[in-house]
Parts: sequence; structure tokens; C-alpha cells
Amino acid sequence: MKSIVIKISGSVFYWNKIQDSLPPLLDVIKGFVDKQYASFCLVTGGGEPARQYIRVGRAFGGNEGILDDLGLRAAQLNAELVISYLKSYSYPVVPKTVDQAIETFVHNKVTVVGGFHPGHSTNAVAALLSERLNADLFINMTDVDGVYSSDPHKHPDAKKLSTISVKQLRNLIKQGKMLAGSYELMDIVAINIIERSKINTRIIECSPSSLNKAIKGERVGTEIMV
Ligand code: UTP
Repeated sequence: MKSIVIKISGSVFYWNKIQDSLPPLLDVIKGFVDKQYASFCLVTGGGEPARQYIRVGRAFGGNEGILDDLGLRAAQLNAELVISYLKSYSYPVVPKTVDQAIETFVHNKVTVVGGFHPGHSTNAVAALLSERLNADLFINMTDVDGVYSSDPHKHPDAKKLSTISVKQLRNLIKQGKMLAGSYELMDIVAINIIERSKINTRIIECSPSSLNKAIKGERVGTEIMV
């Protein structure tokens, strides 16, 4: 059976939309589990809870390390929330390390994780797990429908790319800052892992229809060429 790692965008975990947007995504995964199509590992972003904790921690003068810690724990809480919806489809505990996640994965249930270590993002967590689990596919769901030539939120004339090389992606994200709560599209740790292990990676919009297509191997969003 195939193994697929899916990063659920932090943008889903905002209080005003989480109850509407999360269940349809998880229902897509449940459908594939029912068909025994693949084994899944889900990685949840930190979303609004992470942003809020980091904002207050920063106002209190906390250092970047402790702010990262707040963010990754918020991501773990989001993972717990996913488990509360998936119920018996998922392993009931959120792994806190790569080793624990690997152990969990062999139980034939959906593994759901949040953050691991300060200094990177949940995208890096997802890339690390894709590598260790020899995943056939890493689907990175974001709040845009793929990678653009520049940030589409800031530049309306930005063009969507159906493929992007690792080098191009690295150049795009180089401009971003690495502060707690502000790791962009992909962080450098994630890109390095994708490159060294040639992980089959697709960046897609966080929607049930795109997720459905990406799991089936259809061309949707942006494919990272390694
Ligand atoms: P993310 O940056 O991954 O969440 O984690 P997000 O931004 O909501 O998700 P996307 O990328 O938009 O989908 C939130 C914060 O938690 C800390 C970092 O500070 C990160 O910015 N974090 C998370 C870690 O330090 N280590 C981890 O393993 C995960």
C-alpha cells in the first residue's frame, strides 16, 4: 500500500472557519482509508492558536526559542483536534518525535502530528516524516492553489507555476524571514530534505477537491521537480 504524508495548512485552523473547513478535508482522507488506498500521516499547521500565543509571548519579551515552542505546541493541539474528528480512523495519541511517529505509523491508522522541534516549521516536520516513512507522495496544502512567481497576496499579476525546481523554490523563499510564526510556504529545512531524498512533492490549495485529485496522483497545484 502507498504511504502519503499530508500537511494541513495552518490557515484551516482559524476559529471562524475551522468547523466548516476541517471536516470535509478529513472526510476525503477517510474515504481513501475505507478503500485501503494508502496509509496516511497528517501534519497540522499551527494556525491562529500558534499566532496568538506567539504574539503575546513576543509582547512579553520571550525569546524566539520559547516562541517556537509555543507555536509547535499549538500545532500539536490542532493535531489532537483532528484526532477528535477522525476517531477510530486515527492513532489516538499525537507523536512528539520522529521516532514516535514512525512507531505510530505501523499501527495501520492515520498518524496525526503537529510540531517537533524549535527552529523549523510543520512543513519541515512533514518533509522529515516523508523521508523517514519513504512516502510515495508528500502533499503540502496551503492557502494558495500552488506556487506563484511571487506572493499572489501582494502581487495580483503573479503567475501560477505548474512545476517549480528546488532551486527556484529556494530563491523564492530566501526573501522570507525565519521568525517564530512567520515561516513561509516552505522553510529551508523542508526544501533541503525534499531535495536530498527526491521526495515526490506537490503544493496544492487546501480544498477537498484538490486534495482528492492530489491523492489520486492527478496534476493539481504545483509539482516540485527534484
Ligand atoms: P507553522 O508555521 O508550521 O504553522 O507552525 P502555520 O504557519 O500555521 O502553518 P502554514 O505553514 O501556514 O500551513 C507555527 C509555528 O510553530 C513553530 C514555528 O514558530 C512556526 O512558525 N514550530 C512549528 C516550530 O518551532 N517547530 C515545529 O516543528 C513546528
